[in-house]
Amino acid sequence: MNNIRTVTGGGNLKGKIKVPGDKSISHRALIIASIAEGETLIEGFLHSEDPLSTADCLRKLGINIPHIKEDQPFKISGSGLDSFKEPKEILNCGNSGTTMRLLMGLLAGQEGKNFILIGDDSLNDRPMGRVSKPLSLMGGRISGRENGSKAPISIEGNKLKGCVIGTPVASAQVKSALLLAGLKASGSTSVIEPASSRDHTERMLKAFGADIEIRGELGRNIVITPGKPLIGQKILIPGDISSAAFWMIAASIVPNSEVLIKNIGLNPTRTGILNVMDAMGCNYEIVEKSIIAGEPIGSINVKTANNLRAFTIEGDILPTLIDEIPILTVAACFCKGVSEIKDAKELRVKETDRLKVMARQLRKFGAKILEKEDGLIITGESKFNAADVDSETDHRVAMSLAIASLLAKGSSKISRADASKVSYPTFWDDLAKLTN
Ligand code: S3P
Repeated sequence: MNNIRTVTGGGNLKGKIKVPGDKSISHRALIIASIAEGETLIEGFLHSEDPLSTADCLRKLGINIPHIKEDQPFKISGSGLDSFKEPKEILNCGNSGTTMRLLMGLLAGQEGKNFILIGDDSLNDRPMGRVSKPLSLMGGRISGRENGSKAPISIEGNKLKGCVIGTPVASAQVKSALLLAGLKASGSTSVIEPASSRDHTERMLKAFGADIEIRGELGRNIVITPGKPLIGQKILIPGDISSAAFWMIAASIVPNSEVLIKNIGLNPTRTGILNVMDAMGCNYEIVEKSIIAGEPIGSINVKTANNLRAFTIEGDILPTLIDEIPILTVAACFCKGVSEIKDAKELRVKETDRLKVMARQLRKFGAKILEKEDGLIITGESKFNAADVDSETDHRVAMSLAIASLLAKGSSKISRADASKVSYPTFWDDLAKLTN
């Protein structure tokens, strides 16, 4: 994966675009369809490396998932919560934290069956104790490197009991793992989050007929009670706002731009970027709003805005824009004033340490960024000069650096640019289309 792309600054972005399907919803569609009874039709699936890793693991677990073709709906016929066989092979989750963590929860309650999960170099270094520890409170038997906290992970399926679990981090992956485990437990499982993380699992389980309840004034207590069968549904996956984010920011900052991004998911647990764009003074409009399969969607039209203002990101908003921090760091470089990103320690345990990597790479263009333990301080109104930069294997870094290059004087080179395939396989084609 040492593909180099050249991006030249100075142009503008114009046009209409449809970004690929939502990554989080794509994973969940495969998993929940596999444990439902009857047929599920999936449309708008994200045909990229991460969800395809989930598909591959589920096939090894005996689920009949057809060969998935780009832009073609497909069906999965599940036969309930006990559809899994003990696989002969190791389950390789690739670069995908969602695959590994959700499978840990899904498989912990498969009594009498054993499973081994691995990932690539990046994933094998990411924290898994945040899932294995709470699962062990439910009776899960999970071991792994560094006392169960890192992959390779071994799961010995066991009888689970429901319990009340407070998660120390607001992570949808952790929450979803516990809810999936809760489907196989005796009694209810109650998950309490410190802040609300994306709720696609809750919405989809509810749509499939699960007994799931959202409690508490802030909706941070989710209770799942096993027993009700999940019934196959039709799932229409909207475009991923985390992929749209690159164009939303690019069109706001690159002079003389206007981009219409069609059909993107606008679930309120994912739209923190819009709050930041409001604070910056961006010029955008949401049109064609609707609700499809329980998820709000809409199209967003973004035009260049002048005099963008610095912003601060901190506290409970973080989980709602967690994957947008790399591109918002680029945005901050072109705002007036000093922007600050706080409470963002989670960024250090993503596909790369995104605080360190973004600061290191953007400085090559001339960005003024100070790295703090839990965030970044970015001094705006930068003048970027072309640079040779590196995604360091991180998909969102690769795409953020492409947008940064559009704002630099001259031609920049981005190494390991194909990391973008993890979540946005057509990113470079779309960039060419919009900048033509
Ligand atoms: C995801 C949740 C987030 C996000 C990741 C996808 C999900 O991770 O960063 O890209 O699909 O649940 P955390 O839940 O660990 O914050």
